[in-house]
Amino acid sequence: MNQGIKIGFNTSEHDGSADSEIDATPFDAIFSGVIGQDYHLLKQISPFAAEMSRLVGKAVGEFCLQSADAVRVVELGGGTGITTLSILSADDRLTVLSVDNEPTMQNQARQNLKKWADAGRLAFNGADALTALLSLASDSIDLLASAYTLHNFEAGYRKQVLSEIFRVLKPGGRFINGDRYALDDVSAHTRSTQNEVAGYFKVLTSLDRLDVLEHWIIHLFNDESENHIMREAVALQQLAESGFKQIGLTHRLEVNALVTAVKD
Ligand SMILES: C[S@@+](CC[C@H](N)C(=O)[O-])C[C@H]1O[C@@H](n2cnc3c(N)ncnc32)[C@H](O)[C@@H]1O
Repeated sequence: MNQGIKIGFNTSEHDGSADSEIDATPFDAIFSGVIGQDYHLLKQISPFAAEMSRLVGKAVGEFCLQSADAVRVVELGGGTGITTLSILSADDRLTVLSVDNEPTMQNQARQNLKKWADAGRLAFNGADALTALLSLASDSIDLLASAYTLHNFEAGYRKQVLSEIFRVLKPGGRFINGDRYALDDVSAHTRSTQNEVAGYFKVLTSLDRLDVLEHWIIHLFNDESENHIMREAVALQQLAESGFKQIGLTHRLEVNALVTAVKD
């Protein structure tokens, strides 16, 4: 996953300036820097993200209504716990294993969701998504839920992750992902992304957070790069190739969408 381009940032003291330099952090570890530390700003620059977290929780809740037993959920890329909370709130019986390999993010979730962890309903795994999935037994999970994580993956890694998700889900289990699914219409996707960038500038310049702005723009280049972009048609095809049925993309909000699929 470390493709060799290095980006690092001086984030020890925020002075509103974008003081960056190229050093030792791989670009796919960008959640370790200022984005991770100031992740709460996301809801201001991307209101759709909060809506996707809510929709993931809602889809989890709907699944739980049909289940007589306690539902076991694995969440990939739990981050600071925004979507994790939405999942936990969906049903009183479900338990969550939240996977995230970035301590800057996961440590915030450990703090924010301590109450749930203490109650035995939430556990954490600090491995990367593929390693965590490989450690799980086949047919052992009811739900694999995630938000804004899979689009960060390099395409080959994502394919392996999807295949492992299918393996660990029980028959009847469901994949629920609220994420950036690039529009198949490339021109429409570019326009939508340009509007998104304009929004980043508007909000983050008014907050005088040019450091955060810089990092989100750099991160966006990663998301949009050829070996990462999660284009709708390709993504749904990959789910089918992994064995999933009843694949659906709903609730599209610009470049964001909810995707669900079932292991028969
Ligand atoms: C955009 S954040 C989303 C966080 C959270 N799901 C939410 O809805 O707010 C993406 C998260 O995925 C994590 N992540 C990225 N690549 C990962 C990988 N290969 N394995 C596990 N977690 C990963 C990052 O550390 C980050 O916390």
